[in-house]
Amino acid sequence: MKSTISIIFLFLLVYTLKAEDGHNLWLRAKSTSTVKVVNSKKSATLDIARQELLQGWQGKAQASIAFTVKPDKLIKGDGFKLSSTGIQANTDLGILYGVYELLRRQQTGEQIKEEVMNPSYDRRILDHWDNINGTIERGYAGRSIFWRHGLDSLAVTDKDIALWKEYARANASIGINGSVLNNVNASHLMLTPACLERVKAIAEVLRPYGIKTYLSANFSSPKLIGGIKTSDPLNPEVIKWWKDKAAEIYKLIPDFGGFLVKANSEGQPGPQDFGRTHADGANMMADALKPFGGIIMWRAFVYTASNEDRAKQAYTEFMPLDGQFHDNVIVQVKNGPVDFQPREPFSPLFGAMKKTSLMPELQITQEYLGQSTHLVFLSTMWEEFLNSDTHQEGNGSTVARCTDGSIFPQKYTAIAGVSNIGQDANWCGHPFAQANWYAFGRLAWNNKLTSKQIADEWVKLTFSPNVAANSNQTKFSAEWTTNFLKPVTKMMLDSREAAVNYMMPLGLHHIFSANEHYGPGPWYAPKGVRKDWTPPYFHQADTLGIGFERTKAGSNAVSQYHEPVSSQFADLKTCPDISLLWFHHLSWDYKMKSGKTLWDELCYHYNTGIQQVREFQKIWDKTKPYVDAERFTRVQSKLNDQSRNAQFWKDACLLYFQQFSRKPIPADIERPTTTMEEILKNDQKRPTRIN
Ligand code: GCU
Repeated sequence: MKSTISIIFLFLLVYTLKAEDGHNLWLRAKSTSTVKVVNSKKSATLDIARQELLQGWQGKAQASIAFTVKPDKLIKGDGFKLSSTGIQANTDLGILYGVYELLRRQQTGEQIKEEVMNPSYDRRILDHWDNINGTIERGYAGRSIFWRHGLDSLAVTDKDIALWKEYARANASIGINGSVLNNVNASHLMLTPACLERVKAIAEVLRPYGIKTYLSANFSSPKLIGGIKTSDPLNPEVIKWWKDKAAEIYKLIPDFGGFLVKANSEGQPGPQDFGRTHADGANMMADALKPFGGIIMWRAFVYTASNEDRAKQAYTEFMPLDGQFHDNVIVQVKNGPVDFQPREPFSPLFGAMKKTSLMPELQITQEYLGQSTHLVFLSTMWEEFLNSDTHQEGNGSTVARCTDGSIFPQKYTAIAGVSNIGQDANWCGHPFAQANWYAFGRLAWNNKLTSKQIADEWVKLTFSPNVAANSNQTKFSAEWTTNFLKPVTKMMLDSREAAVNYMMPLGLHHIFSANEHYGPGPWYAPKGVRKDWTPPYFHQADTLGIGFERTKAGSNAVSQYHEPVSSQFADLKTCPDISLLWFHHLSWDYKMKSGKTLWDELCYHYNTGIQQVREFQKIWDKTKPYVDAERFTRVQSKLNDQSRNAQFWKDACLLYFQQFSRKPIPADIERPTTTMEEILKNDQKRPTRIN
């Protein structure tokens, strides 16, 4: 009997599994019954809220939901109060967010009870690294949705508007309220009238969804497009140029959010070109935006080819400036001290700058995590980062609390994620990369959410056949939960650790080949390339051992952390294995907590990594009856590639490091499938820049 029911169930399921290209993201649901919306106020945002409710309602038929825009002391910013009969908020946007929350709960089967939900950060921003020619720096999902190449590249078409609207809706549904529309390596042309006209058009589409537009600004703009001899931030003509530019922009876009600036970093111009400080530059631009309510997000991603450990440089440069920034400047700090690696300890700037507003910068696009080929759910990485305890104000001074205003008062709080979207039909290249966009939004809204909850929500919304078939039967059958939801969420939750294992375990970092940042290249150090752009700088492997010594015996980067974190990292007895080679250079025979030698431990981690990916392949293959053919095949083929690439990472890294360790690869792990000679032969034709 039971098996007959299962067969019928599977038959019905396969029958309802229409091909999906993923374009609808987590917003696949349609209403299953009617609802009455009671709303006395009119606005573009409330119209959207009403429309969304009518289109997606899956609650009781004929229910009535009231929108109440009325201040309440418990509701902060664009937060809202949710109940089974309505949504109350201070702002229209709060109502829209409440609607998305209500619908999400209906679709995921979560309880709807009276609850106030406030955002963790005021500004929840996507940074697009899009160039005005339509390419995307570190983009793996097609070309820009905002910019394109060729004749009439700035003309706004109906197709553009439709796509921007879908983009805005997806963002609003997860609480994102800002978009930086161009690359941090900014073209000066972005601030010319022709480009600004297009920004205005984009802003008009994004506005009703509560999304402010921001731009990355090139610090040399006054000279490059203003015809002024200099861009010195203390020069009166330059100051006036930025003031006038701000006025021009706000005339076009009255709710413009502000500028993001990458200055004196990786060849970009900045105030130091004129002997001025980061604070001089940031404050001058902030003053220009102040009358209009704009902010400056000034990046702390700075390092030069000096003798100082690259991981220390941002702290060294920015700490002395603490307290010097004007109140509409936020210093934007990458999660780790180097550069979006598969695993880094948190940047020591978090919590340390106590008189400066700080915002975390995360990378959603998987530059260093297999790009759009590998399935890596980044939420666990961000959760680990947000929960890291800086100890700046005692126990529990997590990065989350140091940046969301809980510990240090900040006029503005913000968090940014480098976007992973492009014109690919499914937006992100890999169907599971959508989960990273989703997770960023959800964590920006609530930095206490767990990755488990986020994965669970996303899988239900993205894959449940019921949601797509818009049926109102019991949402998630035991069958689907056991055979799809549970194994797939587990795969997602394990995926980042798997990537760390097969790429750079135990604190290794930045051992990529060349500037493409995809495959392994611990050997990669072409003549003439800056040392801090080559992997040997980071892994320091030699016959004596491996790892970057960052204790007092080395660069002393540990001293940038507050106690007891500093001593914990410095002391081998307390340094967590996951950060071991980040902070210590250790002999190949070093005895690990597991009892194994460091060499063996390294081998086993690489091996575990590929075993994990093989397991993901098996998990996915078993989901076939539960996923439409299009998405099933896509993920399956990407997992095949990932598996091959993981194997290559293991072989390449172990064979390379073995030249130094001179030890055998433990007999019970998989044998290499290639040789070092072969690998190097294939690796010769590489571009030379790496950073
Ligand atoms: C990395 C990345 C660059 C990017 C830079 C940044 O180095 O590889 O493409 O420009 O980060 O964040 O500014």
